[in-house]
Amino acid sequence: MTPKVIAMAGKGGTGKTTTSALLIKYLLSKKLTPVLAVDADSNANLNELLGLDVGMTIGQIRKDLKSDMPPGMTRDQFMEMKTQQAIIEESGFDLLVMGQPDGPGCYCSANQYLAMTMDHLATNYRYILVDNEAGMEHLSRMNLRSIDYLLIVSDPSARGIMTARRISEITAPLGLEVKNKYLIVNRAPEPMTPELDAKIREAVKESDLPLGGIFPSSDDLIKQEITGLSYLKLAEDIPVVQTAFAAFDKIF
Ligand SMILES: Nc1ncnc2c1ncn2[C@@H]1O[C@H](COP(=O)(O)OP(=O)(O)O)[C@@H](O)[C@H]1O
Ligand SMILES: [Mg+2]
Repeated sequence: MTPKVIAMAGKGGTGKTTTSALLIKYLLSKKLTPVLAVDADSNANLNELLGLDVGMTIGQIRKDLKSDMPPGMTRDQFMEMKTQQAIIEESGFDLLVMGQPDGPGCYCSANQYLAMTMDHLATNYRYILVDNEAGMEHLSRMNLRSIDYLLIVSDPSARGIMTARRISEITAPLGLEVKNKYLIVNRAPEPMTPELDAKIREAVKESDLPLGGIFPSSDDLIKQEITGLSYLKLAEDIPVVQTAFAAFDKIF
């Protein structure tokens, strides 16, 4: 199976992780599974929105690779075995947490082993969804060079949308092939006034990015986050989930 790769981009705090969690909920609901969710933010928190505890991360495995291997095992075999162990298996989706990036004195060929492991792993999934931090360096570390859908998340301001456009323009120098790009405008005031809606759409038009959706600011999300309940348990009839699902219906 060749998985479709979905990646999140956008400034910190715009809603990449929130959109990731809603998208996993969508893919599960539409039975577009199995899904591999990758938390590629060094401050991993996708797991929290999914109500899961993090165990081992790729960052930790990378460190272990520096020490002596168990007898009879090569480093690439070790990487593959440990990665299998690090994957959190849930119904319909798995979660892999990247953890801390390599610091100074990194064991850099570890990334080569990671790339090989990802190549094997990828064939098990229908979708791979990568929740990135602002930079997208992890994508190349994982050998994910072709992205089927890049969702760039922005706040509902003209300046935010221009920033999203700049982020979209840096994907080419990273050597990433991006097949489809969409802008997601998140945390739009609720209720939206026609004036504001027109302003947002005008800024989007100038950005040259196709609009994937405008998601409302939602107290339901805030409540769910504070109580620590999984976003997967949100009712499907609340406004933000309905808006997100309608947007995803058009995109996927
Ligand atoms: N549509 C929304 N309505 C209400 N709160 C939101 C919405 N989207 C994001 N948030 C909140 O904003 C904060 C940042 O969102 P997050 O998804 O973690 O951003 P990012 O991953 O881009 O840094 C979180 O506390 C989240 O709950
Ligand atoms: Mg995040």
